Amino acid sequence: MDHHHITFTRRTVLSLIAVGTAVLAKPSLAQNQTDIRVWKDPGCGCCGAWVEHLRRSGFAPLVTDTTNMHAIKAQFGVPAALASCHTARVGDYVIEGHVPAPAIIELLAQRPAGLGLAVPGMPPGSPGMEGASPEIYDVILFGSGMQTSYARFMGSRRI
Ligand code: CU
Ligand code: CU
Repeated sequence: MDHHHITFTRRTVLSLIAVGTAVLAKPSLAQNQTDIRVWKDPGCGCCGAWVEHLRRSGFAPLVTDTTNMHAIKAQFGVPAALASCHTARVGDYVIEGHVPAPAIIELLAQRPAGLGLAVPGMPPGSPGMEGASPEIYDVILFGSGMQTSYARFMGSRRI
């Protein structure tokens, strides 16, 4: 009988735990994931503040100003009930509204099934909406006929 495999298995498990801890510690952006296209109304101030939040968080936003945001949201399949001000595309996903950068980074790391993430309305204190007293809000993962809470934030802080 050869019991060699037992030692090997234990060592493998330990190294897998180490790798797992490193991965869970802090999701970060792969180089090709930093590009994010943002559409916004030229008169939208909070949209610009959200773009700055993205930039500070390691993204490279490419901004297009348009006065026809309805058409952009329809084109990307944003449900009317989840609509906010700006709309963005990162990889295959749609990002609607003041979604915090950590939630987008997690989306790109986990790659869940769905069209994208949305923060409907414009919650006070969310990234780009600073200044007001922060409120609790959900980041919604949406797809065809599916809407579920993906993360919960208070202002820019995950709770
Ligand atoms: Cu806004
Ligand atoms: Cu906006």
